[in-house]
Amino acid sequence: MTVLDMRDVRKVYRSGDADIVALDHATLHVDHGEIVALLGPSGSGKTTLLSIAGGLLTPTEGTVEVGGHDISDYSAKQLTEFRRENVGFVFQSVNLVPFLNAEENLLVVDELGGGRGGRTAKGRARQLLDELGLGHRLRNLPAQLSGGERQRVAIGRALFNNPKLVLFDEPTSALDTKLGAQVMELIRSEMKARDTAAVIVTHDSRMTEYADRTVRIVDGRLAADGATPDTAAAAKA
Ligand SMILES: Nc1ncnc2c1ncn2[C@@H]1O[C@H](COP(=O)(O)OP(=O)(O)OP(=O)(O)O)[C@@H](O)[C@H]1O
Ligand SMILES: [Mg+2]
Repeated sequence: MTVLDMRDVRKVYRSGDADIVALDHATLHVDHGEIVALLGPSGSGKTTLLSIAGGLLTPTEGTVEVGGHDISDYSAKQLTEFRRENVGFVFQSVNLVPFLNAEENLLVVDELGGGRGGRTAKGRARQLLDELGLGHRLRNLPAQLSGGERQRVAIGRALFNNPKLVLFDEPTSALDTKLGAQVMELIRSEMKARDTAAVIVTHDSRMTEYADRTVRIVDGRLAADGATPDTAAAAKA
């Protein structure tokens, strides 16, 4: 079953007089529980693709389906609700709320959704943080956590609503190599344990070993692993 189905997506940014084509004919399918690495250099369109897949940005052309919802023409309001219920995000710079402790940073997700959870929500937050090795850090503020611990809280927050798709934008770029590998290991095991699909953006080819499949992006164009966009184009021609 397909969790993410992007077809022929084009994204053009208007920047003054110039148009910047950030994505062109981008087609990407991600299956239920599949982990896909999106590998490409700076400026190649990785964050743009992730933002469109998660409903943070709308495509200029093309269609985007997530979990069977065609979000291509959703309004801003529909997208907000859609994101809350269907997608988890983990960004490069860990954007935890600085004045809330680890547990409260997860509960924010519940409150945004109307705070249905109450005591169960707290239980879930604790269990998740415990699984992520942070059971003893529930009451710590982000400033009192290490970089790796903060990133683990961010992973817990992304998983809190049991999304079918989690989008990671360079989740380890702020960490040293060893810690980065540990966090990738953790991401992989958490996704597999939950049968949750993930797209992990990176410009570091070492990170692709944690993915089931790697897709390359250069200048807004995608190519499957083993092919560069040029050889893919040549193969088609
Ligand atoms: N809001 C914007 N307005 C205009 N141009 C933009 C905007 N956001 C991104 N771009 C341009 O679109 C292209 C793709 O940007 P994007 O952020 O998707 O790249 P990236 O692969 O994530 O890069 P990095 O690895 O540096 O994060 C770049 O040329 C960038 O300058
Ligand atoms: Mg980026």
